[in-house]
Amino acid sequence: MLGSPTTEAGATPAPAPTTAEEVLVLDFGGQYSQLIARRIRECGVFAELLPSTTSVEAIRGRAPKGLVLSGGPASVYEEGAPAFPTELLDLDIPVLGICYGMQAMVQALGGRVEAAESGEFGRTDLTLRDGGGQLLAGLPKEQHCWMSHRDAVFEPPDGFTALASSPGSPVAACEYPDRGLYGIQFHPEVVHTPYGTEILTRFLRDVAGCERQWSPQSVIEEQVAKIRLQVGEGRVICGLSGGVDSSVAALLVHRAIGDQLTCVFVDHGLMRLNEAEQVVAAFEQFGIPLVHVDAEDRFLAKLAGVDEPERKRKIIGEEFIRVFEEEAAKLEDAAYLVQGTLYSDVIESGGGHNAATIKSHHNVGGLPEDLEFELVEPLRMLFKDEVRAVGAELGLPERMVWRQPFPGPGLAIRIVGGEVTKERLDVLRAADAVLQEEIRAADLYRQLWQSFCVLPVVRSVGVQGDGRTYAYPIVIRAVTSDDAMTADWARLPYDLLEKVSNRIINEIAEVNRVALDISSKPPATIEWE
Ligand code: XMP
Repeated sequence: MLGSPTTEAGATPAPAPTTAEEVLVLDFGGQYSQLIARRIRECGVFAELLPSTTSVEAIRGRAPKGLVLSGGPASVYEEGAPAFPTELLDLDIPVLGICYGMQAMVQALGGRVEAAESGEFGRTDLTLRDGGGQLLAGLPKEQHCWMSHRDAVFEPPDGFTALASSPGSPVAACEYPDRGLYGIQFHPEVVHTPYGTEILTRFLRDVAGCERQWSPQSVIEEQVAKIRLQVGEGRVICGLSGGVDSSVAALLVHRAIGDQLTCVFVDHGLMRLNEAEQVVAAFEQFGIPLVHVDAEDRFLAKLAGVDEPERKRKIIGEEFIRVFEEEAAKLEDAAYLVQGTLYSDVIESGGGHNAATIKSHHNVGGLPEDLEFELVEPLRMLFKDEVRAVGAELGLPERMVWRQPFPGPGLAIRIVGGEVTKERLDVLRAADAVLQEEIRAADLYRQLWQSFCVLPVVRSVGVQGDGRTYAYPIVIRAVTSDDAMTADWARLPYDLLEKVSNRIINEIAEVNRVALDISSKPPATIEWE
């Protein structure tokens, strides 16, 4: 369930609208609520998630083209179930209730919602009635859908037509077109509902009358205008990490205000092979003023003799801030700081357009909050895949658009059980470069959440040529994941593993053994430290 700031009356004020045409998704705490917003945007319509406590007045003020009521874990007849103001249904705005959202609407209008004999979870058969009404017209009479519920609608309210049923849901879809009210028990937003996108599109276009307006191009135009309005003639600074978020944020700001922007790239010497050069080359190509601070020696000096993971992180974080502040101080008149905050961060911290909460983990290198800058956050309304699409539209090189997540402390937290030295960094960098090259060649890079090498500081015996060796092992870590909260080890093809192992051992004299990490998260974490 999402947390949200509430007013004394318990109603969350909705912030100002961003685009001319939008659909609001009221979140009743369902696990797929964010996905609903993403799918609607994929249909070319801007959608924003708001807490279910948002006041009716505030929703009216936004004048959305449509409202979607999300699923949720509660039972509508239970005490403490999220409240459902029936005025929502009288705003003259088309409403689509999904799962709990449909049940709440049905119950509010006098229909019958009760616990079903057995719940339906996962793939479920759906049978349409009477041609499927307006919402489901033209779709196959028999189809599959994805369900996740224990309660079911047994009778729709007066005026509604039942459109479909499933083994456990006598009314699996219903509508009252004259009032613009529609409900479905199943989840159109998940890929396991084969006609889900058609159904969402039907609601968006035919019912709500939305046009296709939301696109990477429209985001760029809108943000450029917004940034110009916010900073005027002011000078802006942006810390680059090499990751897609800070790069796209910087490009957008540069598109808006040109040379009023200066980027600062603190190169701590803990990046992958050639990555720092790629960042510098990309920004040079766009003609964006860039201060490249080569601070490798400073960071390595601070890390000398340290092998404890949290101390490493702390040292790197503090040094990063110090270097950044030194550079920022040289740009005396800079009053604004660009941050690549994403919509998922905003939702997690319970904020809307105006909330300024930033999770330190997501900051570029963890900048302190007392820096005296006003924040410019052009990605605040975007999901990660949308940021990538905007980056591609702005011409960011493919490699940077699709870069896998990389931790702020870089390779330092992948040298485990010993001191971080230049020699070990170079060994790890070389091994990692082989892994990346082969994973890209096998066309697997985008399918993996992360892929990297770890260098445990131990040595083992080997034999190469006629001699014995005593050298480092390299551990390959490759995981699939959706959000890094959980992860599974990737089943990389044996041929690929063989090639990577051979190349690492043949090409890097300091390595004589390659191992594969086959632990999932939990209980392991993705990184080794
Ligand atoms: P773990 O290892 O906890 O990591 O499963 C989850 C995700 O977070 C990344 N990570 C970090 N990112 N600074 C960062 O900016 C860090 O100190 C840090 N530690 C882990 C990790 O790469 C994975 O994507």
